[in-house]
Amino acid sequence: MRHVGSAESAGGRLGAVLAAPRSGVVPLGSSGPWLAATPAAARRVLTDPAVFDFPGDVTRSGDLSGSRGDTRSGHVTFPPLTPDQVAAGVETFAREWEAAVAAHVRELRGEPYDAMVLLRRPVARSTTAAVLPSVDARSRDEVADLVLAWIDALAPVIAARRPPRRWSRARRAEHRARLALEDVLAAAPGPGQPPELTATLLAAGVQVPIAAGAWLLAWLGGAPGRTVDPVHAVWETLRLTPPTWITARVTTTAVDLDGVTIPSGAVVMVSPLLLGRLETLVPGDPAGLAGFDPDRWRTADQRPGAWLPFGAGPHACPGRTLGLAQLVRLAQWAGTHVITLSEHVGIDQSRGIRPSPCRFTVAPREGGP
Ligand code: HEM
Repeated sequence: MRHVGSAESAGGRLGAVLAAPRSGVVPLGSSGPWLAATPAAARRVLTDPAVFDFPGDVTRSGDLSGSRGDTRSGHVTFPPLTPDQVAAGVETFAREWEAAVAAHVRELRGEPYDAMVLLRRPVARSTTAAVLPSVDARSRDEVADLVLAWIDALAPVIAARRPPRRWSRARRAEHRARLALEDVLAAAPGPGQPPELTATLLAAGVQVPIAAGAWLLAWLGGAPGRTVDPVHAVWETLRLTPPTWITARVTTTAVDLDGVTIPSGAVVMVSPLLLGRLETLVPGDPAGLAGFDPDRWRTADQRPGAWLPFGAGPHACPGRTLGLAQLVRLAQWAGTHVITLSEHVGIDQSRGIRPSPCRFTVAPREGGP
């Protein structure tokens, strides 16, 4: 059976982090960066911003985080989306997902679905509808397209081994795409914050759920026909393959963390993916923690999310409720179909983690609607 590549045998930064000792605070190189590998240390790093500062502009060479590059927000924090915003976002997601599937059937009948392509428009329009409720639908769709264009232009900047020079072709393309988005946002009735912050909110709220949704489909497609609870499937996906699999902070002063002295100016990393493999946080057979088993969340003993897939503290995800709702909606759709992977799914680590390729076929589920 075709299946999802194992993070445990992945190379690169992911492999290095998973191979690190899972106790305490460990240096990954001779002088850092440091990895806070226990839940208590990880939580302290994320919730004590006076000591563990949120870096403003993060590139790969700087901190290994590879999460959102220029979309990072520095010291600004975002209020969580309201229930009304989330409701508008989910409604849009449901409608746009059905439309995307129908368009695929119409235009590419017989071809496999590509999760990373198919999810783009539904997620972009859903998150834009939630963030910009007062903007008319046509302008919102334009914003959604510009967000996607900016994310695409950012990809080569973030994936580069060395940060591209300011006037390199990649930087200029990214700059143009960002300004195009900010110009439209400046003219739109926004959420009362500068356009560059709305742009950041949108980019984070589009790129990450696309990857999360693709991971969800990948895991479900690896076990075609299996009946799973949608909510449990979502948490299990966010446990095994949280798109923001690692994040980083920089110490403002020398600090004792779990008995280890970390110097000032050091990079300290927290990995939800690593924490999600700790048997203290996850129910079920410890030997099976690397496998996709949504049923493990049937137990009421342990609460899902303790591995921080949405972060924690002042920079925790403000779109968490929307992200979860989009994914649950997707899992519900998947539950009425049989999803089968078309080929083995690999792990692309160039920007967070995303499944690549992630293609699948779809058949109606017998007895389904
Ligand atoms: C399943 C979907 C999502 C996941 C797994 C996710 C995960 C995360 C994580 C782990 C962080 C913290 C990063 C850190 O501490 O460095 C974060 C931050 C953030 N997320 Fe999400 N997110 C999701 C959906 C969304 C959505 C839908 C939005 C917007 C509507 C959004 C907007 C943001 C923003 C703006 C930040 C930065 C917060 C700050 O810097 O203070 N995310 N997200």
